[in-house]
Amino acid sequence: MKVEDGSTLSRADCRAKGGPPGFKMAIVGAAGGIGQPLAMLMKMNPLVSVLHLYDVVNAPGVTADISHMDTGCCGKLQLESALTGIDLVIILAGVLRKPGMTRDDLFNINAGIVRTICEGIAKACPKAIVNLISNPVNFTIPIAAEVFKKGDTCDPKQLLGVTMLDVVRENTFVVILGLDPREVDVPVVGGHAEVDVPVVKPPCSFTKEETEYLTNRIQNGGTEVVEATVGAGSATLSMAYTAVKFAYACLRGLREDAGVVECTFVASEVTELPFFATKVRLGRSGAKEIYQLGPLNEKIRLEKAKTELAASIQKGVSFIKK
Ligand SMILES: NC(=O)c1ccc[n+]([C@@H]2O[C@H](COP(=O)([O-])OP(=O)(O)OC[C@H]3O[C@@H](n4cnc5c(N)ncnc54)[C@H](O)[C@@H]3O)[C@@H](O)[C@H]2O)c1
Repeated sequence: MKVEDGSTLSRADCRAKGGPPGFKMAIVGAAGGIGQPLAMLMKMNPLVSVLHLYDVVNAPGVTADISHMDTGCCGKLQLESALTGIDLVIILAGVLRKPGMTRDDLFNINAGIVRTICEGIAKACPKAIVNLISNPVNFTIPIAAEVFKKGDTCDPKQLLGVTMLDVVRENTFVVILGLDPREVDVPVVGGHAEVDVPVVKPPCSFTKEETEYLTNRIQNGGTEVVEATVGAGSATLSMAYTAVKFAYACLRGLREDAGVVECTFVASEVTELPFFATKVRLGRSGAKEIYQLGPLNEKIRLEKAKTELAASIQKGVSFIKK
């Protein structure tokens, strides 16, 4: 397998020679804390035949390193060539909050980065499924959706906000409560982080204390990791693991496997909000079927989450329209 860092290599050269046909994937923000382990894990996935790694720093270094794993991979120096012909794009690009930076500063920088990348997607791979991980997902999804609307080439159901870390944490914390995650169904709905709501589905039920414990731990999961690293890091490995799980579900959807269902933050009519995280059945072009909420045990918390989500969505939309 040849590895290149220019634009002369053809797509055929990037195919894993002799390997089974698979899907073409790009990771944008691939040299960061999540991007590197994610790139390594995706490189091992048999459903991926082409993996483009793009970043504004150190993409050639990560590509060179990953290329010594004996499956196909290309690094791309230009965003457009990294995205051309791609089936699944994972967006991790952004900056983390630094001392002296306000939340608004952070929002404006990351919003601008996501806008640029989505403009590239609308041009180079308008049919690709997009897994958007860059935070704050409750803002960045409406931003990406507005960009796609302007281009008029993408289907809103292709755009999936990755809220699955909340579900992964919930499964973990359910075990801590002494329960078997295979026997409980607790979709995490609403939005991401502070506005997610774990919702217990019948026939399972939790006590008030168990529900309180689960909700608090999931909503503060990110802070728990930052505090454990004494501010030196954030959730990267658990997020890379989650991103792989979610990407694999999307690849299976692309392959049209039956019954691939995950929670994601997506354009939705389940509530009065234009975007909402719920269970979704994945298919060839992203969210194929969006499941209704059904009976809920967490109505009050959900109403509060919706109020906060509405403000986030409005802020994201205004960023593009201003
Ligand atoms: N959705 C979730 O559950 C969840 C969980 C954890 C982290 N995150 C978010 O994921 C993102 C990545 O986190 P990380 O820890 O890997 O951060 P990081 O700072 O280590 O990596 C981000 C990478 O993006 C790159 N980048 C910046 N601008 C770019 C651009 N214009 N084009 C391409 N690449 C660009 C940077 O060079 C860097 O390598 C952050 O926004 C973080 O908040 C989301």
